[in-house]
Parts: sequence; structure tokens; C-alpha cells
Amino acid sequence: MAAMNDNLSASRQIVMSGIRPTGFLHLGNFFGAVKNYVRMQDEYECYFMVADLHSLTTHPDTKELKANVQRVLAENIACGLDPDKVALYCQSHIFETAELYLYLNMLAYVGELEKTTTFKDKIRLQPQNINAGLLTYPVLQAADIILHRARFVPVGKDQEQHLEMARNYVNRFNHRYGDVFPEPVAFNFGEELVKVPSLDGAGKMSKSENQLATLYLSDDDDLIRKKVMKAKTDSGPAAPNSPKPDYIENIFLLMKLVCGEEVISKFSADYDNCTIRYGDLKKQLAEDMVSFIRPIREKAEAIRNNETYLREVMEKGAEKARKSARATMEIVRESMGLKYF
Ligand code: TRP
Repeated sequence: MAAMNDNLSASRQIVMSGIRPTGFLHLGNFFGAVKNYVRMQDEYECYFMVADLHSLTTHPDTKELKANVQRVLAENIACGLDPDKVALYCQSHIFETAELYLYLNMLAYVGELEKTTTFKDKIRLQPQNINAGLLTYPVLQAADIILHRARFVPVGKDQEQHLEMARNYVNRFNHRYGDVFPEPVAFNFGEELVKVPSLDGAGKMSKSENQLATLYLSDDDDLIRKKVMKAKTDSGPAAPNSPKPDYIENIFLLMKLVCGEEVISKFSADYDNCTIRYGDLKKQLAEDMVSFIRPIREKAEAIRNNETYLREVMEKGAEKARKSARATMEIVRESMGLKYF
């Protein structure tokens, strides 16, 4: 708790990110996002939010919202996010977000919103539900971020356009009403983003694509083994020191994430001198994946079953987020001239 103390937080840079409460966390999310959040929590003042309002743009069955929100929270905590170090909260608990979203809507132009890639994708996917919330999705996201006057936003490439739009709204706001918000920028630790390939050799591990090619942090031991053993291989290299085909390279990339150095060098050497046995390699990878995922899965399960704890987490997170939101909104209303007495 001391980490969120005012004196300390004043000297720390502010980080904000949103997590979609759809789908289950998979290995790609872990290495691409959550691991970075965990790394940031000691150095920055962090606001990590479950984007439950954003999920309404696709009209999900809201009866499932609660369980989804709880699962996402449990999974992130199981991965190492510490609710005592960061503000871990639900978007819908912070009413100030809706207010700022309204003001920002007056600074967002319909023409640019219609050109957003994610909007164009969505209207193809759900032509029967092109609602205004879908159009202004980036405005709500900008509100999430600048509500805490955050500077750093740890997100992947797919969110770059939304961040660019957030910067536009910030600049328009600051220009019109005075310097209130810093420009938010994407954040990573200055390293190549880790690539987590899917098990079928086609692209990245992701929620929407082939379920069997994606390892979820909720997969049980046997399912993990089954998925890994199905990974695409071939009959092995024909000549010593051959280049690795993509799908074999991908298996080695996955090994780098969870296997020990010795294991990797052994199988690399076997590959180079054509003695590699892919069955053995996959068995080893499967066991190392099981050892990696099992403790996270078990911890997430335990947290998910503890409603009292989850409630405390959400309340504590909302309290921290509200404190920062209220302070920002005071300044916003004042600078917009909305204070009449
Ligand atoms: N749009 C983001 C996604 O699809 C989720 C999100 C909502 C977000 N609000 C945010 C990300 C604020 C960063 C900052 O993943």
C-alpha cells in the first residue's frame, strides 16, 4: 500500500492499460502483456483496468459479465499482478470515465472515427449491430487513459491507432482548454516484443483462431500435453546444419519461453546433426509447459473461487482509481469553464 502513497506516487510516472474481459488468457497474452505489467508494478504508478464497458459494444450476454470479469482478475493476479501495488479495477466502477468520455466526444470527429481500422473490422463482423459505442470505442479508450493523466500505455501494435487518436484528443483538449493532459505513448521495455507462435505453425497464438493451437493458462495438464504433441513437425532435416522450417523454428521459440538452456541446446545440436526426435522434443516441451502453466492455473482457480477476496480487490482498486479520476475531473471541469460557482 505504501507504494500508492501520495508522496511516492508524485515522483513516479503513470502507467495505464486496459484488459478485455473476453476470452481466456493464453500464453501470448502472458508473454506479450501481463509479464510487462508485472515488471512495471514496482517502478511506476500503475492503473490496470478490466474493460467491461468496452465489451458492451459487441452486445455480449451480460449474464456472463461478472464471471468474465472475475476470471480476468483472477488470471492476472495469478500471473503476478499485485493488487496492493497497482490499482486493479473495473472500468464500470469509475463513473468519471463516462463524464470524460462525453467531453471527449465533442473533440472527436465522426469522419476520423469511421476510418479507424478496428471500427471497419467490427462493422464487417457485426453488420447488424453498428452502434455508436462501437464508433466511439477509441474515445472511451482515450478517456480511460487520460483520466489518470497517464503517460505510458503498455499495449501491442494493434492498439497503436487508438493511442494515436488519444493523442489527438489530448492535443485538441489542451489547445482549447489549457494544458491538462500529457500525451500518452505506447510503452515497452525497449526490447523486441516476444513472439509467441501458435502450435500449428501459422501466425501468433491468439484467442480467436484455432483453439488447439493456443495454450490457455486455464488448460489442464492433459490438454496441454495433447496440444503440444499435435504441433506440426516433419520427418526431420535431410542434411546436417539445415535451416529450420518455420513450424520447427516456432517450436524452438516456444521452448525458449519455458525450457531450460540445456534442453534447448541439446535439441538444437540434435537438429543440426540430424538425430533429432521430434516426439521426444515435444514430450519435453509438453512437460515444461505443464510445469509453467499448472501453478498459474491452480492459483487462478483458487482466486476465482474466493468471491470475498475478489470483491476486496475490486473495491480497493476502484478506490485508488477514483481518487486519481476525481482529481483529474476537478481540473477538467475547471479548465473547461464548467464551474459556475
Ligand atoms: N482496446 C483495448 C484492447 O482491445 C483495451 C483497452 C480499453 C485499453 N481501454 C484501454 C488498452 C486503455 C489500453 C488503455 O485490448
